[in-house]
Amino acid sequence: MRIQLLSDLHLETEIFVPQVAPEADLLVLAGDIDANHAQIDQFKDWPVPVIYVPGNHEHDRKDFDQTLDALRERCGRLGFTMLDCEQTRITHQGRTIRVLGTTLWNDFELFGPEGLERSMRAARYFAEQVQCATRHGKPMGVAELRDEGLRCRDWLRERLTNPAHHAPQDDATLVITHFAPSLRSNDPRYPLNASTASFCNAYDDMIEHSTLWLHGHLHCRHDYRVGAARVVCNARGLASKGEDSDFQARGVWEI
Ligand SMILES: [Fe+2]
Ligand SMILES: [Fe+2]
Repeated sequence: MRIQLLSDLHLETEIFVPQVAPEADLLVLAGDIDANHAQIDQFKDWPVPVIYVPGNHEHDRKDFDQTLDALRERCGRLGFTMLDCEQTRITHQGRTIRVLGTTLWNDFELFGPEGLERSMRAARYFAEQVQCATRHGKPMGVAELRDEGLRCRDWLRERLTNPAHHAPQDDATLVITHFAPSLRSNDPRYPLNASTASFCNAYDDMIEHSTLWLHGHLHCRHDYRVGAARVVCNARGLASKGEDSDFQARGVWEI
């Protein structure tokens, strides 16, 4: 099965007209599509099924839970499958692909438990000045975002490692996240520091339980292997900052 992968289009400020990859069997939207949501409708009537996993910027300056409800309603109207710590299965040409989708967020343990405090401190500006999401009427700070990260991490680890969730007919496991599962996905433009833990997680041991892991969030491209598993990021980022240099608007990846 061939998958067209798009993420980090940031249509709230960027101008980008999506193009159909003619050979693709599935379109994956891996988050940060439009902070204002409305332009997700650009993918209406797409010729192949669409799977959408929310990014972080879809939550900017909104109630966290209401945002998920609104995105789910929009995806339902458009006929997309939204995955928020959810699993689905796709059958294609006699093969069954198990699909696991979650935004993932961060546990801020990229540098181990001893780096937790520093990494959380480094995330404060983003949480309190950029994202400014709320939950139950209260600001969502770094601790609350970490809670989301733990929820996503625990769900995904259980789905990947507990054989009870594998069906005999599964031929491959596709994982879709917005945030990155490995330090190997770091953006090479930036030095490694406590802020890196707001982008990458140290889940390399989980990657080996997948066949293909697609993610976004880092505004750069990646294609690497962990054991037999392949990790791909095809985030577009901001063309205004020259971040889209080798972005593949009609790129497809096979599972
Ligand atoms: Fe982004
Ligand atoms: Fe992001």
